[in-house]
Amino acid sequence: MTLLDVLDLPQLYTKPSADALLETLALLTSTPPSWETSDVHDRCNGDSDSAQRREQKSAGVNINPEGVTRYLTSIVASSLKWIQDEQVKEEIWNQASLRLSERSGRTAMGALSRNFTIPTSNGPFELTIHEPALTGDDLGLKTWAASYLLAKRLHTLSFIPHKDPSHFKILELGSGTGLVGLAMAALGTNVVLTDLPSIHANLARNVKDNAETVSSAGGSAKSGVLDWTKPDSLRLFPDEASMDDESITHDSKFPFILAADSLYSPEHPRWLVDTIATWLSDDEEAKVMVEFPLRDAYLPEVADFRNRMGGIGLHILEEGEESGLDDWGSSNDDDRTFVTCWYALWGRTAKK
Ligand SMILES: C[S@@+](CC[C@H](N)C(=O)[O-])C[C@H]1O[C@@H](n2cnc3c(N)ncnc32)[C@H](O)[C@@H]1O
Repeated sequence: MTLLDVLDLPQLYTKPSADALLETLALLTSTPPSWETSDVHDRCNGDSDSAQRREQKSAGVNINPEGVTRYLTSIVASSLKWIQDEQVKEEIWNQASLRLSERSGRTAMGALSRNFTIPTSNGPFELTIHEPALTGDDLGLKTWAASYLLAKRLHTLSFIPHKDPSHFKILELGSGTGLVGLAMAALGTNVVLTDLPSIHANLARNVKDNAETVSSAGGSAKSGVLDWTKPDSLRLFPDEASMDDESITHDSKFPFILAADSLYSPEHPRWLVDTIATWLSDDEEAKVMVEFPLRDAYLPEVADFRNRMGGIGLHILEEGEESGLDDWGSSNDDDRTFVTCWYALWGRTAKK
């Protein structure tokens, strides 16, 4: 693999041709990162970014990211006056701006869909997860590292009935884009995926997009709104594409509750545990599984969560740490951050 430096690229003071600049800008394309290059494939709204990156890789060229942002900014700022064709000039500025926004992280990217491969004892299956362009504080519009780790762990849970898992009803809290709940449903269980109203439309879309995978495994997935600040109210929507007045209220409890990456404000532990207490069925075998990133700023929330779970009579049956990739900060393959995540399976009776 050839590693090029930014100084190897056509420099503006040499007045490079439009073709040379466009070729270079194509080479600098960075697709949304995949977290596990072997089994997560990116598809960027049907455009050819992934294909271009593959071409770039197969061409055996990699570019040292240092200085690339400055290089792109200089193209955007240049009048490119040696290039006569105004349309071509526009195209060069446009491509340079796109490369800049790709490099400024997931927050600056548009909508995208990714395929996630989920392992099972009978071989893997794929889920397609759509993430809209990110806006404001809507953290549930992207898929987080903890959820992919948890989704991959689900098939190891021995208490999920193998014979007829479709009678096993599961609730997911703060589903976001729905990766965990859909992976659970595609193991043949019955899952209700929930989040805030602002997240629901995309969650419902992902439930619909993966309906065939889920139903062919004998499972089912429904989406709904459940705000942890009003733990009593869970509304399911029969028409997944909309949240109309036909919402129905779910009144039975669940023997298993799932949640990933749910603690990032001081109120979250109390709200989440109150919601778990409201919806976890009373039976002795009831269980909760969570996976949270151990971010320094939110370690007190994780400790608070542990205490509060004890307070509602739940004990840890199994726990551990593992590492996953988050792509919040950067779309650049070399800058992606590893996050240590904590997973824990809780039950009503203490481990013997
Ligand atoms: C960091 S995201 C994680 C999403 C998903 N579980 C994942 O790991 O990819 C946190 C999720 O919790 C949801 N959330 C935050 N506060 C909530 C509340 N009061 N009630 C319900 N969901 C909430 C957010 O909307 C968001 O989807």
